[in-house]
Amino acid sequence: MKQIVFSIHDADALARRLCDRLGAEYGIAEIRRFPDGESYVRVLSDLGGKHAVIVCNLHRPDEKFISLYFLARTLKEQAAFRITLVAPYLPYLRQDTRFKPGEALSSEYFARLLGSCVDGIVTIDPHLHRFANLSEVYSVETKVMRSAPLIAEHIKKHITHPVLIGPDEESEQWVSEVAARAGAPYIVLAKQRLGDEKVDISAPGLEKYKAHTPVLVDDIISTAQTMMETLGHLRRLGMKPAVCIGVHAVFAHNAFEALKKAGVQEVLTCNTIPHPSNKIDISSLLTEGLKGRL
Ligand code: R5P
Repeated sequence: MKQIVFSIHDADALARRLCDRLGAEYGIAEIRRFPDGESYVRVLSDLGGKHAVIVCNLHRPDEKFISLYFLARTLKEQAAFRITLVAPYLPYLRQDTRFKPGEALSSEYFARLLGSCVDGIVTIDPHLHRFANLSEVYSVETKVMRSAPLIAEHIKKHITHPVLIGPDEESEQWVSEVAARAGAPYIVLAKQRLGDEKVDISAPGLEKYKAHTPVLVDDIISTAQTMMETLGHLRRLGMKPAVCIGVHAVFAHNAFEALKKAGVQEVLTCNTIPHPSNKIDISSLLTEGLKGRL
Protein backbone atom coordinates (compact mmCIF):
# COMPACT_ATOMS: atom_id res chain seq x y z
CA MET A 1 0.00 0.00 0.00
CA LYS A 2 1.42 3.37 -1.02
CA GLN A 3 1.70 5.91 1.77
CA ILE A 4 1.22 9.66 1.51
CA VAL A 5 1.84 12.06 4.40
CA PHE A 6 0.11 15.45 4.64
CA SER A 7 1.00 18.11 7.16
CA ILE A 8 -1.38 20.70 8.44
CA HIS A 9 -0.65 23.90 10.38
CA ASP A 10 2.72 23.83 12.15
CA ALA A 11 3.47 20.12 11.68
CA ASP A 12 5.58 20.37 8.53
CA ALA A 13 8.97 19.55 10.08
CA LEU A 14 7.57 16.46 11.77
CA ALA A 15 5.68 15.36 8.64
CA ARG A 16 8.84 15.59 6.53
CA ARG A 17 10.77 13.59 9.12
CA LEU A 18 8.05 10.91 9.01
CA CYS A 19 8.17 10.85 5.20
CA ASP A 20 11.93 10.23 5.35
CA ARG A 21 11.62 7.52 7.97
CA LEU A 22 8.72 5.77 6.21
CA GLY A 23 9.93 6.33 2.66
CA ALA A 24 6.48 7.83 2.03
CA GLU A 25 5.31 10.43 -0.49
CA TYR A 26 4.87 13.98 0.82
CA GLY A 27 1.29 15.08 0.18
CA ILE A 28 0.65 18.47 -1.38
CA ALA A 29 -2.35 20.48 -0.25
CA GLU A 30 -3.18 24.15 -0.17
CA ILE A 31 -4.52 25.07 3.24
CA ARG A 32 -5.16 28.70 4.03
CA ARG A 33 -7.76 31.11 5.28
CA PHE A 34 -10.05 33.36 3.28
CA PRO A 35 -9.86 37.05 4.24
CA ASP A 36 -12.90 36.59 6.49
CA GLY A 37 -11.12 33.84 8.48
CA GLU A 38 -12.93 30.84 6.98
CA SER A 39 -10.76 27.84 6.02
CA TYR A 40 -9.81 26.87 2.44
CA VAL A 41 -8.49 23.40 1.61
CA ARG A 42 -7.43 22.01 -1.78
CA VAL A 43 -5.69 18.66 -2.26
CA LEU A 44 -3.23 18.61 -5.16
CA SER A 45 -1.68 15.13 -4.82
CA ASP A 46 -3.19 12.03 -6.36
CA LEU A 47 -4.84 9.95 -3.65
CA GLY A 48 -6.35 6.96 -5.47
CA GLY A 49 -6.14 3.93 -3.15
CA LYS A 50 -3.30 5.32 -1.04
CA HIS A 51 -3.11 5.27 2.70
CA ALA A 52 -3.17 8.92 3.80
CA VAL A 53 -1.54 10.14 6.99
CA ILE A 54 -2.33 13.61 8.30
CA VAL A 55 0.16 15.04 10.78
CA CYS A 56 -1.48 17.73 12.87
CA ASN A 57 -0.36 19.28 16.13
CA LEU A 58 -3.70 19.61 17.82
CA HIS A 59 -2.44 22.08 20.39
CA ARG A 60 -4.99 24.97 20.26
CA PRO A 61 -7.51 22.64 18.64
CA ASP A 62 -10.27 25.22 18.27
CA GLU A 63 -8.13 27.06 15.69
CA LYS A 64 -7.20 23.88 13.81
CA PHE A 65 -10.06 21.44 13.79
CA ILE A 66 -12.13 22.83 10.90
CA SER A 67 -9.31 22.73 8.34
CA LEU A 68 -8.27 19.28 9.59
CA TYR A 69 -11.87 18.11 9.09
CA PHE A 70 -12.04 19.64 5.60
CA LEU A 71 -8.72 18.01 4.64
CA ALA A 72 -9.74 14.59 5.94
CA ARG A 73 -13.12 14.74 4.17
CA THR A 74 -11.48 15.79 0.91
CA LEU A 75 -8.93 12.97 1.12
CA LYS A 76 -11.72 10.47 1.69
CA GLU A 77 -13.73 11.83 -1.26
CA GLN A 78 -10.62 11.54 -3.43
CA ALA A 79 -10.53 7.82 -2.71
CA ALA A 80 -7.88 7.56 0.02
CA PHE A 81 -7.97 3.93 1.14
CA ARG A 82 -7.62 4.85 4.79
CA ILE A 83 -6.88 8.02 6.78
CA THR A 84 -4.69 7.98 9.86
CA LEU A 85 -4.32 11.09 11.97
CA VAL A 86 -0.96 11.56 13.67
CA ALA A 87 -1.71 13.91 16.55
CA PRO A 88 1.36 13.83 18.81
CA TYR A 89 -0.62 15.86 21.36
CA LEU A 90 -4.25 14.85 21.75
CA PRO A 91 -6.23 17.69 23.35
CA TYR A 92 -9.49 17.88 25.30
CA LEU A 93 -8.70 14.94 27.55
CA ARG A 94 -8.61 16.80 30.84
CA GLN A 95 -12.38 17.43 30.81
CA ASP A 96 -12.97 13.70 31.19
CA THR A 97 -15.94 14.07 33.51
CA ARG A 98 -18.50 16.68 34.52
CA PHE A 99 -16.88 18.41 37.48
CA LYS A 100 -19.90 20.71 37.83
CA PRO A 101 -23.50 20.12 36.73
CA GLY A 102 -24.23 21.39 33.23
CA GLU A 103 -20.65 21.19 31.95
CA ALA A 104 -19.92 19.90 28.44
CA LEU A 105 -18.23 16.49 28.42
CA SER A 106 -15.72 17.84 25.92
CA SER A 107 -13.38 14.81 25.88
CA GLU A 108 -16.22 12.67 24.56
CA TYR A 109 -17.62 15.25 22.11
CA PHE A 110 -14.18 15.97 20.67
CA ALA A 111 -13.49 12.24 20.29
CA ARG A 112 -16.69 11.91 18.28
CA LEU A 113 -15.73 14.84 16.05
CA LEU A 114 -12.29 13.39 15.27
CA GLY A 115 -13.71 9.91 14.80
CA SER A 116 -16.15 11.28 12.21
CA CYS A 117 -13.38 12.15 9.75
CA VAL A 118 -10.44 9.75 10.29
CA ASP A 119 -10.11 5.97 10.52
CA GLY A 120 -7.36 5.84 13.12
CA ILE A 121 -5.22 7.99 15.41
CA VAL A 122 -1.60 7.69 16.53
CA THR A 123 -0.67 9.80 19.54
CA ILE A 124 1.85 10.14 22.34
CA ASP A 125 1.09 10.03 26.07
CA PRO A 126 -2.53 11.16 26.02
CA HIS A 127 -3.72 12.56 29.34
CA LEU A 128 -5.52 9.51 30.71
CA HIS A 129 -6.79 10.07 34.21
CA ARG A 130 -10.33 8.88 34.69
CA PHE A 131 -10.24 6.93 31.37
CA ALA A 132 -8.01 3.88 31.67
CA ASN A 133 -7.40 3.89 27.91
CA LEU A 134 -8.38 5.84 24.82
CA SER A 135 -10.81 3.21 23.57
CA GLU A 136 -13.13 4.23 26.41
CA VAL A 137 -13.69 7.52 24.64
CA TYR A 138 -12.55 7.01 21.00
CA SER A 139 -14.43 4.59 18.78
CA VAL A 140 -11.83 4.68 15.96
CA GLU A 141 -8.65 2.65 16.27
CA THR A 142 -6.03 4.41 18.41
CA LYS A 143 -2.37 3.68 18.94
CA VAL A 144 -0.70 5.20 22.00
CA MET A 145 3.07 5.60 22.05
CA ARG A 146 4.98 6.39 25.23
CA SER A 147 7.78 8.91 25.52
CA ALA A 148 9.15 7.35 28.74
CA PRO A 149 12.05 5.45 27.08
CA LEU A 150 13.27 8.61 25.32
CA ILE A 151 12.93 10.76 28.46
CA ALA A 152 14.77 8.13 30.51
CA GLU A 153 17.54 8.01 27.92
CA HIS A 154 17.91 11.82 28.11
CA ILE A 155 18.08 11.72 31.92
CA LYS A 156 20.66 8.94 31.92
CA LYS A 157 22.83 10.84 29.47
CA HIS A 158 22.58 14.35 30.91
CA ILE A 159 21.60 14.38 34.60
CA THR A 160 23.72 13.12 37.47
CA HIS A 161 22.21 11.56 40.60
CA PRO A 162 18.58 12.37 39.72
CA VAL A 163 15.43 11.88 41.76
CA LEU A 164 12.28 11.95 39.66
CA ILE A 165 9.33 13.89 41.00
CA GLY A 166 5.77 13.45 39.78
CA PRO A 167 3.63 16.35 40.94
CA ASP A 168 0.34 14.45 41.21
CA GLU A 169 -1.11 10.95 41.28
CA GLU A 170 -1.79 10.86 37.51
CA SER A 171 1.89 11.47 36.85
CA GLU A 172 2.84 8.18 38.52
CA GLN A 173 2.18 6.33 35.22
CA TRP A 174 4.95 8.33 33.49
CA VAL A 175 7.30 8.96 36.38
CA SER A 176 7.47 5.36 37.56
CA GLU A 177 8.32 4.10 34.06
CA VAL A 178 10.91 6.82 33.41
CA ALA A 179 12.49 6.20 36.84
CA ALA A 180 12.70 2.44 36.30
CA ARG A 181 14.34 2.90 32.91
CA ALA A 182 16.71 5.59 34.19
CA GLY A 183 17.59 3.53 37.28
CA ALA A 184 16.63 6.44 39.56
CA PRO A 185 14.37 6.78 42.61
CA TYR A 186 11.05 8.59 42.28
CA ILE A 187 8.45 10.23 44.46
CA VAL A 188 4.88 11.24 43.64
CA LEU A 189 3.36 14.30 45.35
CA ALA A 190 -0.29 15.10 46.06
CA LYS A 191 -2.03 17.86 44.11
CA GLN A 192 -5.34 19.54 44.60
CA ARG A 193 -6.60 21.71 41.74
CA LEU A 194 -8.25 24.86 43.07
CA GLY A 195 -8.93 26.51 39.69
CA ASP A 196 -7.63 26.77 36.09
CA GLU A 197 -4.53 28.60 37.29
CA LYS A 198 -4.27 27.55 40.92
CA VAL A 199 -3.10 24.28 42.46
CA ASP A 200 -2.07 23.21 45.92
CA ILE A 201 0.67 20.60 46.28
CA SER A 202 1.81 18.74 49.36
CA ALA A 203 5.22 17.13 49.33
CA PRO A 204 5.83 14.82 52.29
CA GLY A 205 9.02 12.78 52.07
CA LEU A 206 10.91 15.05 49.66
CA GLU A 207 13.57 16.03 52.21
CA LYS A 208 15.31 12.67 52.05
CA TYR A 209 16.40 13.44 48.45
CA LYS A 210 18.37 16.60 49.28
CA ALA A 211 21.59 15.21 47.79
CA HIS A 212 19.89 14.44 44.44
CA THR A 213 19.15 16.57 41.37
CA PRO A 214 15.36 17.02 41.34
CA VAL A 215 13.80 16.18 37.97
CA LEU A 216 10.12 17.11 37.70
CA VAL A 217 8.28 15.05 35.09
CA ASP A 218 4.73 15.74 33.92
CA ASP A 219 2.76 15.06 30.74
CA ILE A 220 1.45 18.59 30.16
CA ILE A 221 2.92 21.92 31.19
CA SER A 222 0.14 24.45 30.63
CA THR A 223 0.06 27.38 33.08
CA ALA A 224 3.15 25.80 34.77
CA GLN A 225 1.50 26.35 38.17
CA THR A 226 1.90 22.65 38.95
CA MET A 227 5.64 22.83 38.30
CA MET A 228 6.06 26.18 40.08
CA GLU A 229 4.21 25.04 43.21
CA THR A 230 6.47 21.98 43.32
CA LEU A 231 9.55 24.17 42.85
CA GLY A 232 8.42 26.20 45.89
CA HIS A 233 8.67 23.06 48.04
CA LEU A 234 12.12 22.25 46.67
CA ARG A 235 13.31 25.79 47.39
CA ARG A 236 12.03 25.77 50.96
CA LEU A 237 13.85 22.47 51.56
CA GLY A 238 17.07 23.92 50.13
CA MET A 239 17.25 21.35 47.34
CA LYS A 240 19.36 21.76 44.19
CA PRO A 241 17.94 23.65 41.15
CA ALA A 242 15.54 21.34 39.34
CA VAL A 243 15.25 20.14 35.77
CA CYS A 244 11.60 20.36 34.56
CA ILE A 245 10.56 17.89 31.87
CA GLY A 246 7.17 18.02 30.15
CA VAL A 247 6.02 15.75 27.36
CA HIS A 248 3.67 18.34 25.83
CA ALA A 249 4.82 21.99 25.69
CA VAL A 250 1.36 23.54 25.92
CA PHE A 251 2.65 26.64 27.81
CA ALA A 252 -0.32 28.99 28.16
CA HIS A 253 0.32 32.76 28.23
CA ASN A 254 3.88 33.47 29.49
CA ALA A 255 4.17 30.20 31.46
CA PHE A 256 7.47 29.18 29.85
CA GLU A 257 9.19 32.47 30.71
CA ALA A 258 7.75 32.39 34.26
CA LEU A 259 8.98 28.83 34.79
CA LYS A 260 12.47 29.63 33.52
CA LYS A 261 12.64 32.52 36.00
CA ALA A 262 11.61 30.25 38.90
CA GLY A 263 15.18 29.18 39.67
CA VAL A 264 15.29 26.03 37.54
CA GLN A 265 18.35 24.48 35.99
CA GLU A 266 16.52 23.73 32.73
CA VAL A 267 13.04 23.33 31.22
CA LEU A 268 12.78 20.81 28.41
CA THR A 269 10.05 19.06 26.44
CA CYS A 270 9.42 16.52 23.69
CA ASN A 271 8.60 17.88 20.22
CA THR A 272 4.94 16.80 20.26
CA ILE A 273 4.19 20.54 20.06
CA PRO A 274 6.80 22.75 18.35
CA HIS A 275 8.39 24.98 21.04
CA PRO A 276 11.85 26.42 21.86
CA SER A 277 12.05 24.01 24.85
CA ASN A 278 11.90 20.91 22.56
CA LYS A 279 14.93 18.72 23.28
CA ILE A 280 13.60 15.17 22.87
CA ASP A 281 12.66 14.05 19.35
CA ILE A 282 9.64 11.72 19.27
CA SER A 283 9.48 11.11 15.51
CA SER A 284 10.82 7.55 15.94
CA LEU A 285 7.82 6.79 18.19
CA LEU A 286 5.38 8.05 15.56
CA THR A 287 7.01 5.97 12.83
CA GLU A 288 6.78 2.95 15.13
CA GLY A 289 3.12 3.77 15.88
CA LEU A 290 2.31 3.92 12.17
CA LYS A 291 3.87 0.54 11.40
CA GLY A 292 1.27 -2.03 10.51
CA ARG A 293 -1.26 0.71 9.91
CA LEU A 294 0.02 1.86 6.53
C1 R5P B 1 -2.99 17.37 34.85
O1 R5P B 1 -3.17 16.89 35.93
C2 R5P B 1 -1.71 17.26 34.08
O2 R5P B 1 -1.08 16.05 34.29
C3 R5P B 1 -0.76 18.41 34.40
O3 R5P B 1 -0.27 18.26 35.72
C4 R5P B 1 -1.45 19.72 34.27
O4 R5P B 1 -2.11 19.80 33.04
C5 R5P B 1 -0.46 20.85 34.39
O5 R5P B 1 -1.18 22.03 34.30
P1 R5P B 1 -0.56 23.41 34.72
O6 R5P B 1 0.74 23.56 34.02
O7 R5P B 1 -1.58 24.42 34.23
O8 R5P B 1 -0.41 23.43 36.20
